[in-house]
Amino acid sequence: MRRLFVAGNWKMNTLHESAVTLAREVAAQCAGDSSSVDVLVAPPYPYLLAVKQELSGSHVQLGAQDAYFESQGAYTGEVAVEMLQDVGCDYVILGHSERRHVMGETDELINKKVVASLDKGLKVILCVGELLEERESGRTEAVLDAQMSTSLSFIDAERMSNIVIAYEPVWAIGTGKTATPDQAETTHAYLRNWLVNRYSAELAESICVQYGGSVKPENALELLSQPNVDGALVGGASLSSESFGGILSAARKIAG
Ligand code: PGA
Repeated sequence: MRRLFVAGNWKMNTLHESAVTLAREVAAQCAGDSSSVDVLVAPPYPYLLAVKQELSGSHVQLGAQDAYFESQGAYTGEVAVEMLQDVGCDYVILGHSERRHVMGETDELINKKVVASLDKGLKVILCVGELLEERESGRTEAVLDAQMSTSLSFIDAERMSNIVIAYEPVWAIGTGKTATPDQAETTHAYLRNWLVNRYSAELAESICVQYGGSVKPENALELLSQPNVDGALVGGASLSSESFGGILSAARKIAG
C-alpha cells in the first residue's frame, strides 16, 4: 500500500524569519499526527538548517530544491549532496520544470544529479512534465518517455525505492490552471505503466507518484483521491500554513 506524500516546495520564497515561522506552523500541524501521510518541506538553501531545527521532533521531512553531482571543488554557486545531508536533508527535488526551463537543465544533467544523490543515500523527488504546446500537439507521452528514460539511466530497481516521481504539467505550475483529476489520473497511470515496462509490476506498484501544479485545499481532495495519484508537490499553496494545512487535511481524510 503506497503512502500519500505531500511536499511543499517553497522555491525562492521566504526570508529567515518567515521560513522559521512557516516551518514551526507546519510542524505544529503535524504534531501527534498518526495518519499515514508523509510530509516534507523544501526551503531555500540558506534556511535549511534553521528549518531543520524547527522540524525536530516532528515527522516532517526536509528537502532541498536542487543539488550538484560533484562532491566538492571549484563549482562556484553549487551545493553538493554531502552538504545537504550534512544539514539534515532527507530528500532533494531534481529536474523541476523551473530548473529545466529557466536554468536550461537537460535530462542528462538531471540524471547525473539523480545518480549522485542516490549513490550517496539522499532520496530524490524527480519531476517530469510536458509544456502546453507539447500536450496540445499530442506529445505528452513521448515527452514523459524521454524525460523518464534519460533521467533514470543507470538506476536499477533497488535504487528506485528511493525515488518519488512528481508529475508536474508545466502549464499547470503557478498558473492557477490545474490538470483535471481525470487528466492527472490518466497521466499518472501512464507513468506507472512506464515503470512496469522498465522495471516490474511489483516495483511500479510501490513507487509514489505525486501530482504538482496549482494544488490547493479546494482541489486536493479530488486529485488525491485518484487511484494513481499518491501525493502532491505543492508550490504556491505551501507558503501559508493555512493552505498547506488544508491540503494535508485532505490527504489525511483519504489516508484515514
Ligand atoms: P504550484 O507549483 O503549486 O505553485 O503550481 C508546483 C511546483 O512547481 O512544484
